[in-house]
Amino acid sequence: MITNSKEQIEDSSLDNTLRPQSFGEYVGQEKTKRNLGILIDAARKRQEPIEHVLLYGPAGLGKTTLAHIIAKETGVNIRVTSGPAIERVGDLGSILTNLSDGDILFIDEIHRLNKMIEEVLYPAMEDYKLDIIIGKGPSARTLQLDLPKFTLIGATTRLGSLSNPLRNRFGVINRLDFYNDEEIEKIINRSARILDLKIDKKGSGKIAKCSRKTPRVANRILKRVRDFAQINNRDTIDEEIAQEALKILDIDELGLEPTDRHILETIIKNFNGGPVGVQTIAAATLEEIQTIEDVYEPYLLQLGFLARTSRGRMVTENGFRHLGYDYPEIQKKLI
Ligand SMILES: Nc1ncnc2c1ncn2[C@@H]1O[C@H](COP(=O)(O)OP(=O)(O)O)[C@@H](O)[C@H]1O
Ligand SMILES: [Mg+2]
Repeated sequence: MITNSKEQIEDSSLDNTLRPQSFGEYVGQEKTKRNLGILIDAARKRQEPIEHVLLYGPAGLGKTTLAHIIAKETGVNIRVTSGPAIERVGDLGSILTNLSDGDILFIDEIHRLNKMIEEVLYPAMEDYKLDIIIGKGPSARTLQLDLPKFTLIGATTRLGSLSNPLRNRFGVINRLDFYNDEEIEKIINRSARILDLKIDKKGSGKIAKCSRKTPRVANRILKRVRDFAQINNRDTIDEEIAQEALKILDIDELGLEPTDRHILETIIKNFNGGPVGVQTIAAATLEEIQTIEDVYEPYLLQLGFLARTSRGRMVTENGFRHLGYDYPEIQKKLI
């Protein structure tokens, strides 16, 4: 399965080989690149560290890649961690005190930082100060340490799960958008060059259409198609070989996988198309709520197959039709 986490280890090495190293190599997201370019130039002129940057958007669109590019383009070190990895206040303290002036601290999944740690981050972001408490009970004292002038880059799939005080401390907040087919094709062609693969125009077009408008998915499918071409002794990836590989991967012409179809079908069959809450969908499909919300739902929403209403999720008319079901007229009144 293409979106599954089981492949993540293999995938992370692929991620690194294919990861663009500069804004020039980074396809699309023109507005974000422009904003970040301005930010970097301004900081350079003032000889200050760049402002704290928050990047948000669905998984696999290039947030981690951008954080590394920002570090490269500004010539500073980047220290990478994630919300769930920082378990204690002391963990954050030691990360922060080990940074140097100008360094970037990248916190992935920043919405998963726990509250106490978040509060330590506020004065660190605002004034480069770290408050530490020494001792316990009535004899406890607070000590304030000066921190290096660092830049925090946060990444999240869920802007809405970020607390307001944290969000407000970022100088720049950038949303990454889904890519269009042309951009995904460019990414596929670039990756094919790096992997030393031959691919023709129709072959890359076919893969692009099934890539959920997401670079990471495009790269993953490309790799699976490559394996399939090799087994079949084909030296060029064309439309036919791409098509056959996609069929074996059980990915349809819009990039839907078995789990996407299962989610839509469950809402249609068990709940008459909705509205139904995400907890109920999770229970009925045996998927985790977070996986549904972060992995499957964004693309189904983007395709317009799913709608989010105040009463829950609903499958749209196009969603019904894509799966080959008639659309019950009464649903129209609910959406
Ligand atoms: N704009 C882009 N141009 C080319 N490749 C990209 C782009 N964005 C992402 N990628 C590819 O997709 C992979 C996943 O991107 P990543 O930055 O890890 O996504 P995120 O952190 O948003 O989940 C990267 O390894 C890179 O190869
Ligand atoms: Mg990432």
